[in-house]
Amino acid sequence: MNNTLQQIDKQHIWHPFDILHAENIMIERGEGVNLYTTDGRQILDAISSWWVNIHGHAQPDIAKAIYNQAQKIEQVIFAGFSHAPAVTLAQSLLKILPFSFDQIFYSDNGSTSVEVALKLAMQYWYNQGIKKSKIVALEAAYHGDTFGAMAVGERSVFSKPFQKYLFDVAVLPLHSASAKECVAHFETIACQGDVAAFIYEPLIQGAAGMVIYEPDLLQSLLEVAQKYNIICIADEVMTGFGRTGKLFASEYMSIAPDMMCLSKGITGGFLPLGVTVINEKISVQFQSTEKEKRFYHGHSYTANPLSCAAANASMNLLLTKECQQQIQLIAKAHQFFLEQIRGHSKIVKIQALGTILSIELFSESGTSYFSKNRNYLYQFFLDRDILLRPLGNVIYILPPYVINEVQLNKIYTAIAELLATL
Ligand SMILES: Cc1ncc(COP(=O)(O)O)c(C=O)c1O
Repeated sequence: MNNTLQQIDKQHIWHPFDILHAENIMIERGEGVNLYTTDGRQILDAISSWWVNIHGHAQPDIAKAIYNQAQKIEQVIFAGFSHAPAVTLAQSLLKILPFSFDQIFYSDNGSTSVEVALKLAMQYWYNQGIKKSKIVALEAAYHGDTFGAMAVGERSVFSKPFQKYLFDVAVLPLHSASAKECVAHFETIACQGDVAAFIYEPLIQGAAGMVIYEPDLLQSLLEVAQKYNIICIADEVMTGFGRTGKLFASEYMSIAPDMMCLSKGITGGFLPLGVTVINEKISVQFQSTEKEKRFYHGHSYTANPLSCAAANASMNLLLTKECQQQIQLIAKAHQFFLEQIRGHSKIVKIQALGTILSIELFSESGTSYFSKNRNYLYQFFLDRDILLRPLGNVIYILPPYVINEVQLNKIYTAIAELLATL
């Protein structure tokens, strides 16, 4: 057996969402928007490596912040102890978050930030002795792969084997009905008085295929939630930290969520970290010293100092004028390209929101994650040294904010080339 790294990987490492013994591209290093393979290729990472890498790869300031922190304290139990990077990060978040929040609860990825929000919402009612247990979610939602997150996500082949273990959720017909019907549906459920929480990806559903929906519709749904005293959970795991053109997608709305889930871009893609942000209305119900009312949830790596240090450095970069200008530049470039290719016969839908551009291509078998065109599309761009990871027949660009015009044009040119061949 030839023991190259790639072969060992193929033999023994089980990669997410893939078959066993898949062949993976070996990456040696990264710089800016580029990934460099062990066999000498340079690949443009147009999806920020699963939407996390907002400032580009191996960003020196973040690398330095982690190095400096590692020499002080790399990890400490977060029960009974705390540390400066966690406090600094909490302070910064509370300052830049839209609306007023009270508490920061750390965990270690997007799914766990959702689990925490769901459990807090359930216990919020439990602590008051109020029987409200129904959770409302949006059609086509994705909130992660842990059990609670799966339960509030779209039921699909992904979650089918676990169906009987997932709690019941009321699903709002975001796509299969008109906006008016969707709001009316929510009103019908809400007026029964047993809804504990409403969870949503604000304005854009990532895993569903970067599907953008109207702020007015979300605003109306939030109004219903407000009217019936339903806890609102904004899952900003993907949309947070500038992705949609504002620091947080919730800023497009005038009604505040009670909780927000954050992860992905928070550390600039360097280390895992999850945050659940909680307002005072929720936290006040946990202030009691009674043991039964405490929130019993924690992860070993909660608020890891290295992750928090990376997040603080990433935040500093995000708030610079240069980074904010880059976000606007990308948004403008996307709009320009969108106008150029809009109306192409093979495009079913094309949408842009901030730094995200999504193009749904015509497929004879309809739109699906398992569209048979997906592998062709993935390979088409990879052959041109561009990493785009289509969601079925939906191609999307979600680049690191440091991408320049030449690099953006390289992606647009490849897409135009693809359209010409279809
Ligand atoms: C909106 C949303 N919520 C939650 C998650 C889960 O995050 P993680 O993969 O870090 O568990 C994702 C991941 O794509 C997401 O897009």
